[in-house]
Amino acid sequence: MSYLFPNYQRKKIQWVKGINNTLIDQDGKSYLDFTSGIGVMNLGYGDSNLNEVLSDQAANLWHAPNLYESKFQEETAEKLANGRDYVAYFCNSGAEANEAAIKLARKATGRSKIISFVNSFHGRTYGAMSATGQESIHQGFQPLVPDFEYLPFNDLDSLKQKIDKQTAAVILELIQGEGGVIPAKQEWVKQIKQLCRTTGTLLIIDEIQTGIGRTGSLYAYEQYEIEPDIFTLAKGLGNGIPVGAMLGKKSFAQAFGPGSHGSTFGGNNLAMRVASEVLERINQPDFLLEVQRKGNLLMKGLNQLALKTTLIKDVRGKGMMAGIELTDADVLASVMEQLKEEGLITLKAGQAVLRLLPPLTISDEELNRGVELLEKVLCKEQKND
Ligand SMILES: Cc1ncc(COP(=O)(O)O)c(C=O)c1O
Repeated sequence: MSYLFPNYQRKKIQWVKGINNTLIDQDGKSYLDFTSGIGVMNLGYGDSNLNEVLSDQAANLWHAPNLYESKFQEETAEKLANGRDYVAYFCNSGAEANEAAIKLARKATGRSKIISFVNSFHGRTYGAMSATGQESIHQGFQPLVPDFEYLPFNDLDSLKQKIDKQTAAVILELIQGEGGVIPAKQEWVKQIKQLCRTTGTLLIIDEIQTGIGRTGSLYAYEQYEIEPDIFTLAKGLGNGIPVGAMLGKKSFAQAFGPGSHGSTFGGNNLAMRVASEVLERINQPDFLLEVQRKGNLLMKGLNQLALKTTLIKDVRGKGMMAGIELTDADVLASVMEQLKEEGLITLKAGQAVLRLLPPLTISDEELNRGVELLEKVLCKEQKND
């Protein structure tokens, strides 16, 4: 018997090693990774430079409580602010980062209503789950935190009707990840920002999946030409070391005064040293240009593939975050299984979307190999259909 709760649907694979963009299972079989451990391993596996930084800190001091100053937190926060007027709060996961964002928004505005969107995903804790616009995720856990409303994504009229001077915040992902790799429309996001400004509502952008270079800029919001009041990070920030962050405009700092919020492990030394190094590496113009170039290469390959099979209904995404909408959930399950057999690991999103989140360090050759495997499997699936 297993001594674990069965809350994850686990595949019968045990990963024993990761080298760059490749994973190796217990039988020694290699797999090209198009998942980055669900958007986490942006710099790939076994990076020697990150290993060195982690070992160096491990040899000195793993943990120091938040009762004392931390130069590593200060350094990482400054890099995250990236020249803008944000201050940071560190935690250990995406859900915790959103939890902090929701609390800050309510405290700073003195309002309670929060608007989020259908199909969104913000995490599994009560606040983050209540912000998540998916009934299947709420099931059995009611009552949720009160005063959350879910509106249709990319729809301006419903937002215009619902947002008012009682609204504390609007929270959204700029590309809905778990919901099916659905990009927000640029004009819609700009209008949200405008509506937030006129009603005194805070705009929270959940960058947990889209941030840290994933879409070709440090943060996806930069490509939408807006600045959020609050944004949240996790996943790629620690390249596998658990860490989350909530950033808010400096003007809200007072709302999170001493005693208002906290975490024992948040901003842990090991996490901060790694996060700081990750940012040093990813937030470089050349690195981000490469992500954009490789993202375009991937999209081009996928769009060409879409012309060769009727199993693909849509291809979408930005940078190294791609979604291939297939005809139905059964086709998706079969395709993912065959890809795994062929040595390519992929992800599901929404009902029938094949989600690809390769490490940002992946080579052109590996990207092309992945697209070739996709073509092989989809063409075979089409014949059997
Ligand atoms: C956009 C988004 N927000 C929040 C979360 C929750 O992050 P975590 O699983 O680290 O709590 C996720 C995780 O998939 C996510 O994709």
